[in-house]
Amino acid sequence: MERKEILKQFKKDKDNLINILHALQNNNPQNYLDLGNLKEVAIYLNITYSHVYGVASYYTMFSLKPRGKYIVRVCNSPVCNMEKSTEIIKEIKDLLLIDEDETTNDKKFTLELSECLGRCDTAPGMMINEDVIGNLNTENLKSIFEKYK
Ligand code: FES
Repeated sequence: MERKEILKQFKKDKDNLINILHALQNNNPQNYLDLGNLKEVAIYLNITYSHVYGVASYYTMFSLKPRGKYIVRVCNSPVCNMEKSTEIIKEIKDLLLIDEDETTNDKKFTLELSECLGRCDTAPGMMINEDVIGNLNTENLKSIFEKYK
């Protein structure tokens, strides 16, 4: 969908800034906001570019650089740490051959670490885009990632 069509879905109200940024990022197959997006949002909402840039760069859910089709967010908070999430993170890095904040060569996966996902009862956990996946262990990771290939 064209950028202008997305903007038209929202009233010209600065309270819509975050929702507009989400819609633009979700519309981008590389899962990020380019600077052209930010400039156009500033014009559309009649607010400063620096305000839009500040919001887009403050929230970790937004990215200003291209990412993979799937964003893998592995919980790195205390409960998951106690359930060996550091081993899970290392295993995912080995499986995808990338480090944190990197994207696989085929542009499929970007690995990010995350704060608590609110699913401590199934720790350790991660999200792949909108899917929350718990009870991770070094044995089930490979089959989980196979589903997204
Ligand atoms: S600490 Fe990992 S989901 Fe809560």
